[in-house]
Amino acid sequence: MNNNVQHSTASHQNHGSTALDPREFRHALGNFTTGVTIVTTIGTDGNPVGVTANSFNSVSLDPPLVLWSLARKSQSLAAFESSTHWAVHILAHDQDELSGRFARSVSGAEKFDGIEYEDGLGAAPLLSGCTTRMQCRTAYIYDGGDHIILVGEVLKFDKSDAPPLVFQRGSYAIATSTAQTIMPPPGEDPRNVSETSPLGYLLASAYLHFSARTTEQAAELKLNNIEYLVISALGTREGRTYHELITLAAYTGREVGPESINDLAARGLIKIDDERHSRDEEDHAQIYLTAEGQAIYDRIKNQSQLEEENMMRQLGVPETIALRTLLSRFIRIHSPLIPYRWF
Ligand SMILES: Cc1cc2nc3c(=O)[nH]c(=O)nc-3n(C[C@H](O)[C@H](O)[C@H](O)COP(=O)(O)O)c2cc1C
Repeated sequence: MNNNVQHSTASHQNHGSTALDPREFRHALGNFTTGVTIVTTIGTDGNPVGVTANSFNSVSLDPPLVLWSLARKSQSLAAFESSTHWAVHILAHDQDELSGRFARSVSGAEKFDGIEYEDGLGAAPLLSGCTTRMQCRTAYIYDGGDHIILVGEVLKFDKSDAPPLVFQRGSYAIATSTAQTIMPPPGEDPRNVSETSPLGYLLASAYLHFSARTTEQAAELKLNNIEYLVISALGTREGRTYHELITLAAYTGREVGPESINDLAARGLIKIDDERHSRDEEDHAQIYLTAEGQAIYDRIKNQSQLEEENMMRQLGVPETIALRTLLSRFIRIHSPLIPYRWF
């Protein structure tokens, strides 16, 4: 046992039982939104130990102290009670699977199986890809009912810009800012677009503005909207058939006529692999981009990457991720069937 660690003398059995409904109490606590951490240490047998914990919180800036609580029934209890150091990993938004792995009551060896880590202070394992890591010395251990409360002195930390994972009402989430950081352009009535505008109106406005930009970009590349769609569809997946292109375009309310395909072929942007097909199978001939067509597709792709980066800069990274998540769910709800694979 670390001699510097102070243990509370109160026993957890002194608290007595309460009349609270345990399920309701748990649900009520779930209303307190938190981040998610994995706390690691080294076991007495030298094996790595780690637990998912959302009870983490800051305590003091000077000295730098943090705390978290560990269930007495946890099989990692002995390791944390006797270790001199532990490392807190504040998880990034895309580490929910890792959180799930360390929340399973399996051996430390199984939790760490296949995961790369380095040895931190006191040999506490350091995981990668997190938002923040704090390497701590065990400063105090207190009684906390059916949990123990561990207070650590932060000796070292590192952090990244990755948006943190959030835990709320029993589910993982992404936190987005509620601040109205983007002002309406000069002359625009601020009531036109706001968080209280009807969803259908907002979606229609977003689509109109976005598709007007796509039409402009297509014109710059000397393509009409249909040709732009065909080049994009072939760029994301080569060898699509004419039949497939017609079906994809029909989903967007457009019609790909044979003249568009012939015109793109005559301009040397696509080539039609019709050798292996009889005349009646023309619709099933595979279509490919030529090197020139590929160069145009690369420009389209570049443009769309720039748009996305610009969006992330203005809207924020977690907000862009949330927008993508919610839009993909919205589309699933409203139009469950997209014919063929776009990507
Ligand atoms: C999001 C989340 C947060 C959790 N927070 C805590 C916590 O703060 N303290 C705790 O003891 N267990 C917490 N748990 C449960 C433990 O991770 C889980 O019981 C784990 O199996 C303990 O591992 P062990 O028994 O191998 O020690 C949490 C689980 C999840 C999914």
